[in-house]
This record gives sequence, C-alpha cells and structure tokens, in this order.
Amino acid sequence: MLFEAKGSNVDENMFSKGEPKHVTHREFLRRIARELSIARIYYPGSCHDRQLEKPFGKKVVTLDKDMETGMPNFVQGRMENSPFLSEVFDAVFLQDVGANEGELTDVLRTLRPNGIVIHSYSDCCDEDLPLLEDHPQLMFLEFPYYHEDLSIFRKLEAPTQNQK
Ligand SMILES: C[S@@+](CC[C@H](N)C(=O)[O-])C[C@H]1O[C@@H](n2cnc3c(N)ncnc32)[C@H](O)[C@@H]1O
Repeated sequence: MLFEAKGSNVDENMFSKGEPKHVTHREFLRRIARELSIARIYYPGSCHDRQLEKPFGKKVVTLDKDMETGMPNFVQGRMENSPFLSEVFDAVFLQDVGANEGELTDVLRTLRPNGIVIHSYSDCCDEDLPLLEDHPQLMFLEFPYYHEDLSIFRKLEAPTQNQK
C-alpha cells in the first residue's frame, strides 16, 4: 500500500524511481485499486460500463444524465451539477465523456485534496485530457505502472499559482 486514502499526502516522491512497467488496461486499474487504497470512486458518465466493478467492487458510485443504467450505486444526474457533497471521493474515473470545464469543475469539487483523477481513453472522446493536463488544481502523477490509454492526476491541496 503506497498511501492511506484519508489525510495523507500523495506525491511522486512516494513511488520508486524505476521505469514504469507496462501493464494491461485491466491490470493498471487493479494496481490502482490495490495500491492507492481508494474507499470511494466516482464514475460520471458511466452509461452501462462495468469495468470498475471488478477492481473496486462496491466502492464505485456511478452517475449518468440519460438513463437508468441498472448499475449498482447509480445516481441519475448531470456531472456539472451533481448531488454529491464536496470532497467525498478519493478518486474519479473519466472515460469517453469529454468533460468540459463546467463539468470538470463540479467533478473536482467532489474529489478530496490529494485524491486522484484517472483518465481513460478507449475509442471516443479525449478532448478533456488537455483540460486535465493544464488544470491548476491537478498534477500529473507518475505511477510505477503505465498503460498508453490511462493517465492519472493528483488533486493539489492548493491550486498552482498560474490559476486565474
Ligand atoms: C460515450 S458515453 C461513454 C460511456 C462510458 N463512460 C464508457 O466509456 O463506456 C458518454 C456517457 O456520458 C453521459 N454524459 C455526457 N455528458 C454528461 C453530463 N453532463 N452529465 C452526466 N452524464 C453525461 C452520456 O449520457 C453517456 O452515457
């Protein structure tokens, strides 16, 4: 376990400096679930996608605007105006939802400081990736494993100085 979910600082210095190991998409998620001690992970725009169920089980909370997905812990709603309290999630998973700035603002509101954003590109939208890369509240997190479709970011306790 690399860090506790609550009240600890996560930073790159906590990970060994060796070359990250290439793993499958599924294994990458499994490693995150195992090594980052995530108690609650939010998947906005989940639709029917169940890929988080195996690694994270009942820790997953899903939200989608359109449909009754039949997913466990599902909330129907909009990610730019979600019903969740602030800083309740340890991690957020974004895949093929193409979040805009307003949507991302609410998503990050729900994420605790030092929580992580996992961005996954499968085959559709990744226009939100540059927003994450340039976001003053986020920092790219080096992880000992990598997969070309997956990036992880840490939410800073205080935004970087270039915030407007
Ligand atoms: C392309 S699908 C991707 C579904 C799933 N993430 C995946 O990768 O299989 C995008 C989903 O995001 C949902 N969505 C888009 N904008 C949303 C918003 N502002 N609030 C909630 N859901 C949204 C859509 O209803 C749709 O189900």
